[in-house]
Amino acid sequence: MNFLNKFFLPPARSNFAADYDKLFNFIHIASFILLAAITITIVVFVIKYRRRSEHDVTPIITDKKWLEVTWTVIPLFLVLFIFGWGFRDYMQMSTPPQDAYEIHVTAQKWLWTFNYANGAKSTGTLHVPAGKPVKLIMQSKDVIHSFYVPAFRVKRDVRPNAYSSVWFTAMKPDTSDLFCAEYCGTGHSGMTGKVVAQSPEHFNNWLQQAASGGGGASSDKPLAEQGKALFEQNACSTCHSLDGSIKTGPSFKGVWGSKVKLKSGKTVTVDANYVRESILHPQAKIVQGFPPVMPTFQGTLDDHQINALIEFIKKQQ
Ligand code: CUA
Repeated sequence: MNFLNKFFLPPARSNFAADYDKLFNFIHIASFILLAAITITIVVFVIKYRRRSEHDVTPIITDKKWLEVTWTVIPLFLVLFIFGWGFRDYMQMSTPPQDAYEIHVTAQKWLWTFNYANGAKSTGTLHVPAGKPVKLIMQSKDVIHSFYVPAFRVKRDVRPNAYSSVWFTAMKPDTSDLFCAEYCGTGHSGMTGKVVAQSPEHFNNWLQQAASGGGGASSDKPLAEQGKALFEQNACSTCHSLDGSIKTGPSFKGVWGSKVKLKSGKTVTVDANYVRESILHPQAKIVQGFPPVMPTFQGTLDDHQINALIEFIKKQQ
């Protein structure tokens, strides 16, 4: 197996890689066995049952039920087994742990920008703590891009106007390649970067350094603080309280991650996509019991500012 991995696959550096590679190798080997068996059968039959003279006629062929059932049922169970295996791994990859370290990722033609909770910012190079689960909250400023780190077996589209996310744990300190895996224009092939996994101490040092403007990175205030400033500047508090009291709109206290009932009768979980939609298209999903009076902030707040507000709302527990 190790030889196969070396031959076919990039280095395995995330928590998913071992499982992922097992499934990949299983499909690969099963396909090879089927290919070989079918090819050999075809060649043998072509020789064995070839037409031997001008007078040869095709004999009457009667069907064999047991043979047909066998070659239908075996492949059926094989693909169901692969589906179940793949689904289990997919669910694991789609469910980030609660305590995952969150980093905001912005894709644009043709570079990657990473924003960390303490205000540090890096371009092209993503820094992550090794041995800890990391969740990326991703969005695009223009067209669809795709975040792809082969060594982590992680790939997910990054879209404009909505968030997508991936998570992974980098197993040990190492530097891996990052690619854009969705054709996004003339600079697509150059839209690459690095993922630098560091020991938690080194990572924290880098974060501090980056937040104070060193280490080849620039910085702003922590996102949640920027969000607080925006909350005040835009007079959000006229309608939204932070202490649970009810004003014209719902309070932000404890709202993050909760399920709220809408006027339409449906229920929605308050996550990044819902908050973003409510800022840009306030009328889309009105919470039950509140009037539809919020103005849109489209054109007023940019993507970065909306991210900052989301981080601020997350903190209102
Ligand atoms: Cu971005 Cu391809």
